[in-house]
Amino acid sequence: MSHGVPNRNWSYPTAIKFGVGRIEELADHAKAAGLSRPLLVTDKALATLPITAQALDVLERGGLGRALFSDVDPNPNENNMANGIAVYREGHHDGVICFGGGSALDLGKMIALMAHQEGLSVWDLEDIDDWWTRADAARIAPVIAVPTTAGTGSEVGRAGVLTNSATHKKKIIFHPKLMPAVTICDPALTVGMPKFITAGTGMDALAHCLEAYCSPHYHPMSQGIALEGMRLVFENLPVVYREPGNLMARGHMMSAAAMGAVAFQKGLGAIHSLSHPVGAVYGTHHGTTNAVVMPMVLDFNRPAIEGVIDRAAAYLGIKGGFDGFRARVMELRAELAIPANLSAMGVKREDLDMLTGMALEDPSCGGNPVTMTRENTRALFDACM
Ligand SMILES: NC(=O)c1ccc[n+]([C@@H]2O[C@H](COP(=O)([O-])OP(=O)(O)OC[C@H]3O[C@@H](n4cnc5c(N)ncnc54)[C@H](O)[C@@H]3O)[C@@H](O)[C@H]2O)c1
Ligand SMILES: [Fe+2]
Repeated sequence: MSHGVPNRNWSYPTAIKFGVGRIEELADHAKAAGLSRPLLVTDKALATLPITAQALDVLERGGLGRALFSDVDPNPNENNMANGIAVYREGHHDGVICFGGGSALDLGKMIALMAHQEGLSVWDLEDIDDWWTRADAARIAPVIAVPTTAGTGSEVGRAGVLTNSATHKKKIIFHPKLMPAVTICDPALTVGMPKFITAGTGMDALAHCLEAYCSPHYHPMSQGIALEGMRLVFENLPVVYREPGNLMARGHMMSAAAMGAVAFQKGLGAIHSLSHPVGAVYGTHHGTTNAVVMPMVLDFNRPAIEGVIDRAAAYLGIKGGFDGFRARVMELRAELAIPANLSAMGVKREDLDMLTGMALEDPSCGGNPVTMTRENTRALFDACM
């Protein structure tokens, strides 16, 4: 093990098989989860890469076939889901292997969720109150998750993000049975990410940890996980950006991504409520968009978070409290060539009123430490331009 990355089995709360090369265990875990005819769901670009062929080879050698569905767009929508369900039913599959970044992981989950529901729309399962009880839980197929980015943490979550192609709204679809039966976190799978995806996904993990850490809700376990997650990102994201093949640093980023998603049960905030509508309307990359608005959201929340950020800075070895922390975020953005503002991402001033309305409808608002109103949110969007 010259790379020095240890193998570990975690259940926090998903069973996570962490370690370099553990993709080779995919068929064994799929069988243990009761799958005999899995459908591997990934996106169009990943479908052409050797890592996907490797995963399919492992399944085939294990006697599970090599069925693939890859008609998945970034920020996937209900049409991708419908096409996937058709393939799933036609192939008489009995479970989904979600393989990829957040887009493929989430769409795979949606196929597992909706393939055999009757008389139910996926939008009826939005993460509101107890809407998830509308689904027939016995008809939800098991999911195995294999992340190939280190950012969303969808591999440890019970939700998927689906974009409504008619309204351009991103909806969080929730069901407890969307929790993967097993997750394989193999850092080697993330080595081939394009540089700007390494940067953007890593900043998504940071945004999850930061927003969870700042959310006012009570969840001390998440608080601790979020803090250490931030440390892992600050120390390892610049390394993987410079040295894509550094497996130790890739491993730490994979951990940070899973930690961010465990932590954000405590809440998200304005970074995500702004980023969701921008991603849904303009198709921008989710984590990159988060990175763009992060400093402005820190300023927006400053009155409520100065004390907790001072404490985080002390743990992170950053001098200067809140100001030092903000400066570190700016430094990291510069190292990763993140666009300076939303205008640079193509956002148009004439859309800001609409985006403000959409941001206020986003469930992430509830976790923001400063109450978001039409007036202050519009001003925040202005600051992000
Ligand atoms: N479920 C959740 O809890 C959750 C949380 C945050 C974000 N999301 C959602 O996740 C999506 C974003 O996911 P993402 O940031 O992982 O990006 P992504 O899944 O959209 O992937 C981005 C690009 O990277 C490519 N790619 C992925 N892994 C690669 C690899 N190893 N090698 C080469 N190319 C690779 C993909 O083909 C794609 O072109 C958004 O839709 C967002 O809303 C979900
Ligand atoms: Fe996110």
